[in-house]
Amino acid sequence: MNILITGGAGFIGSHVVRRFVKKYKEYNIYNLDLLTYAGNLENLKDIENEENYSFIKGDINDENFINALFFKYKFDCVIHLAAESHVDRSIIDPLAFVKTNVFGTINLLNAFKKHNQNKGQNRRFYHISTDEVYGTLGQTGLFTESTAYSPNSPYSASKASSDHFVRAYGETYGIPYVISNCSNNYGPNQFPEKLIPLFINNIINNKPLPVYGDGNYTRDWLYVIDHALAIDLIFHKGENHETYNIGGFNEWKNIDLVKLLCAQMDDKLEREPGTSEKLITFVKDRPGHDLRYAIDASKINKSLDWKPSVTFEQGLSKTIDWYLSNKLWLEGVTSGAYKNYYLKQYS
Ligand code: NAD
Ligand code: TYD
Repeated sequence: MNILITGGAGFIGSHVVRRFVKKYKEYNIYNLDLLTYAGNLENLKDIENEENYSFIKGDINDENFINALFFKYKFDCVIHLAAESHVDRSIIDPLAFVKTNVFGTINLLNAFKKHNQNKGQNRRFYHISTDEVYGTLGQTGLFTESTAYSPNSPYSASKASSDHFVRAYGETYGIPYVISNCSNNYGPNQFPEKLIPLFINNIINNKPLPVYGDGNYTRDWLYVIDHALAIDLIFHKGENHETYNIGGFNEWKNIDLVKLLCAQMDDKLEREPGTSEKLITFVKDRPGHDLRYAIDASKINKSLDWKPSVTFEQGLSKTIDWYLSNKLWLEGVTSGAYKNYYLKQYS
């Protein structure tokens, strides 16, 4: 089976690629990635020479290139993760998100429609999406698979649009698709623009921890390895034309999460308890900031027998350990263009 994984050099994609390459020797895994600021082949050093793995550098927005690629490899299945993924960047440049997340997804769907000649059961377009498409919750309630889409940021609007196109191609052209909408991920290899790795990096460097607004925003956090496991299960056992919400029933107010992170960092860096908390700085709020995300993961829990393997405290500790033992990776991704982004976003 030829499987195309897009965005495999990014955070979640690299964990999915590694899992598939190592576990399924009978599959040929093609990782297509443009290597934007968020893509990094260092994430896949350990598997780059595996026989069933190939890396292809390319842009999902390039229609001719995508067509030629599908013509050549006749992919049986696609697991589509490539995207612009950061809300704050989407506020600065919404069009970049429309291009990659909407047009790029449509290019892949068109090429799959045209060139996929597998008439058997094992053909599938698996679209990886986010819980942010549902918009925001108040103090109570959970997002289920039937919650109406109500995106509030350019990022979530572009992901919502791509979800709709995947569904529409399924209904209109009979493409066998599956979609999953996951909560906030954290873990090794996450680019330090998102809350947890950004704050780990700042604590290491004794820099302020910029908490947006009053810090009372809530997110539902999942360890990336557990997301990769869920993707594996949905890919192999999920029903066509279904969507699955993925989350660990693990809600944290940002400020409580940051305090836990500070305590663990003090401990690991052998600093006086309370040292890192002193770096917390409340800054101007994000426009359109969603108050609360929380996933009802009952469907995947029950139908695919999936549940997270680690508690948040365990996952966070493993994550910090990874960043502390991969300082070169961290230095590599925070030099150059990162500095300009940081200045623009936080000055
Ligand atoms: P990421 O930003 O770390 O990685 C995205 C990858 O896509 C990068 O390797 C980048 O080089 C590649 N890419 C970007 N534009 C491309 C293009 N035009 N052509 C080819 N490759 C391109 O993102 P992530 O956090 O790993 O997220 C992966 C997917 O999971 C995204 O679709 C995202 O919406 C979704 N998701 C993320 C989270 C999260 O918490 N990070 C949660 C739920 C869903
Ligand atoms: P983030 O990691 O950007 O994920 P998302 O916006 O997709 O949920 O942000 C998680 C939460 O942390 C969100 O409520 C915004 C907040 N946040 C800060 O308070 N400061 C920061 O510097 C960042 C990046 C995020």
